Amino acid sequence: MCGIVGYIGNNEKKDFILNGLRELEYRGYDSAGIATLSNGELITYKAVGKLINLEQKCKDFTSTGFGVAIGHTRWATHGKPTEANAHPHIAEFSNVIHNGIIENYKELKERLEKKGHYFLSQTDTEVIVHLFEDYLNDGLDCFEAFKRTIGELRGAYAILLITKKEPDKIFYAKNASPLIIGRGEGGIYLASSDAPLMGYAQEVSYLEDGALGYIDLHNFSSLPNIKQLPQNKGYAQKEGFRYFMEKEIYEQSGVLLETMMGRVSEGKISFENLSADFFDGIGEITICACGTSYHAGMVGKYLLERYAKIKTNVVIASEYRYSSPVLREDELFIAISQSGETLDTLEAIKFVKPFGNKTLAICNVDNSSIVRECDEVLLTRAGIEKGVASTKAFATQVMVLWMLSTYIGSIRGNLSQKEVQKNIEDMVASAKRTEISAKMHEKIKRLSKRYLHGHGFFFIGRDVFYPLALESALKLKEISYLHAEGYPSGEMKHGPIALADSELFTVALMPEHLLYEKIKSNVEELSARDATICAVSALEFEGADDMLYIPSCSSYMEEFFSMMCALQLFALEIAIRLGNDVDMPRNLAKSVTVE
Ligand code: M6R
Repeated sequence: MCGIVGYIGNNEKKDFILNGLRELEYRGYDSAGIATLSNGELITYKAVGKLINLEQKCKDFTSTGFGVAIGHTRWATHGKPTEANAHPHIAEFSNVIHNGIIENYKELKERLEKKGHYFLSQTDTEVIVHLFEDYLNDGLDCFEAFKRTIGELRGAYAILLITKKEPDKIFYAKNASPLIIGRGEGGIYLASSDAPLMGYAQEVSYLEDGALGYIDLHNFSSLPNIKQLPQNKGYAQKEGFRYFMEKEIYEQSGVLLETMMGRVSEGKISFENLSADFFDGIGEITICACGTSYHAGMVGKYLLERYAKIKTNVVIASEYRYSSPVLREDELFIAISQSGETLDTLEAIKFVKPFGNKTLAICNVDNSSIVRECDEVLLTRAGIEKGVASTKAFATQVMVLWMLSTYIGSIRGNLSQKEVQKNIEDMVASAKRTEISAKMHEKIKRLSKRYLHGHGFFFIGRDVFYPLALESALKLKEISYLHAEGYPSGEMKHGPIALADSELFTVALMPEHLLYEKIKSNVEELSARDATICAVSALEFEGADDMLYIPSCSSYMEEFFSMMCALQLFALEIAIRLGNDVDMPRNLAKSVTVE
């Protein structure tokens, strides 16, 4: 959440800062701001809403000559998305930007107010700049004042601060929020992720937690762990699609094949960087993740228990570390994350590491914090996912988990060669099933107009179709703002069925190849109570008000991937009809780096 960028050099400061913020806008789009300091002048612009508003506001502004600059795109945590609450936050002669949460800001604010500091915002961040200037007023030099300030903060942060007292430096601190410093021909560049740095910086240092210091034009070489930065950004463009989300749904067949490439061949599964002995002695698995990645983890549980025959727990990251979990010595900890920066998941890994358990990341972003924290990684190869509502990342996470469970099943002798071969054939066929046909998309577009009202949606399914039901409900609520819930279909009769009436839409996931008769009975129970039923299936179901047909498949996993696409498009088309910004839905952000 929140994206931060910084620059030191002679170039037009606005250019890198605004370009960088554009790259980071997925992290938050409640407001944005920029501050430049050159020729002794500290100038700040802020605007509420998307970055375009800030770009408009400072379109005539230029800053020539040597100077420093910082920029921020905000996902609101403390205080509404107003201009006053937008970063940078300003004291007398300094500006600060921050990603994260300062947990003890209230007590610091009270103390500073008593000393005469006047606050303009409701944010936690503003205390940082006042505390810094307070220490300066006590006679400390800038670095000492910054160190003391950071020493008083509790919580998660990536902080950049500039001050007229030292106009050639950016002061930085990092704890549990990502921060990267790069050097290129044009000067020094800072950002929350490496995407904004590409094309500007040639070498980078990924800062570790606890990093605290200042950067100027001369001291980059003293940073730890400097690496060359790949320059192939792989710009994501909409390429004729209405939204990135739509494009990403269409990309799924390609990225699923990409995810399998080099890992699945000649009746065998292997992973480039993982040897079989990594799994020696593993007696239990815990999968930890949030949101859509958690749903992929739930699918993983069914697959790992079915094929690898290893008991698997799935936990929500934000619940995990505060719940006094009991870890077995032989337990493998798998963290799943698209972004690799989700703080809840990252902190769960950090909680587990001191116990000495093996850790494995299933992640879409190489070099991300989660990848760096885990012992081993399986990259999901979905490519850049821009839509806040995750689609292709989910598809590739499920595929990696399916490959992993088949792989473990084969090395442990729980699956015969024939069974491994069958799974591989099903994997290839499943990737094919995610090719979107114009006919199906058109049908969903038409169907969507009947589902814009009502008092809610139930998505129901069994086995792996239960997490798919949860995921489909999440997709719908994220972008349409309609109420939707996912349920195991057999659970409806234990309570939720009380809500059934004609204004309750039930989307029933009815795979031909897995427990069809069981789910059919559950849907009939709802149909008998006049719920409006949309059946997603290859088989006609007489009790349905609407049929969303998927093609006839030869395995339940093919049906899984086919239904996944149909239901992603269903959510997309409903949201478009409701006039919502599908790629940047209200209140959300792509990368969630606060607890
Ligand atoms: O980057 P991660 O996979 O760790 O993110 C986890 C969730 O925040 C994410 O899946 C979220 O639920 C998405 N908006 C789902 O569409």
